[in-house]
Amino acid sequence: MERTFVMVKPDGVQRGLVGEIIARLERKGLKLVGLKMVQVSEELARRHYAAHEGKPFFPGLIRFITSAPVVAMVWEGREAVNVVRNLMGPTDGAKAAPGTIRGDLANDIGFNLVHGSDSLESARQEIELWFRQDELIDWENHREAWLY
Ligand code: TYD
Repeated sequence: MERTFVMVKPDGVQRGLVGEIIARLERKGLKLVGLKMVQVSEELARRHYAAHEGKPFFPGLIRFITSAPVVAMVWEGREAVNVVRNLMGPTDGAKAAPGTIRGDLANDIGFNLVHGSDSLESARQEIELWFRQDELIDWENHREAWLY
């Protein structure tokens, strides 16, 4: 079963959308295996977004992510990486389709509420960056027998 890293960004926490975002992933049938609130350090922000270093939006992105707490999570399920990306919608909320988290709730390219790993490899790296092994709970969800 795949695992992916998901973060409710500072705008999602500030707007009181943590529950809404978690509910959408739960209702899809994904399983929450790790969850914590984090006041992100400059170092963690830079490591998380290392791929974007040097781009014009990078300094603003680091300022935004470190400006207020985030909720960091690991979700597990069948094709979890792609499933979360599809539920989130594309980066720019103005272009995201209704029905997606960004399409329904965001209207900006930077304030876009949520992060989800973009590949299995980045999921692996991001989970390792944000969580210790003992913070992830391998619990049994018998409901999966009715989903897949
Ligand atoms: P990216 O990984 O391209 O998007 P996504 O979050 O959909 O995987 O970019 C990371 C974040 O950087 C994005 O969520 C918001 C910010 N960003 C900007 O502020 N401006 C931009 O032009 C882009 C491409 C991203």
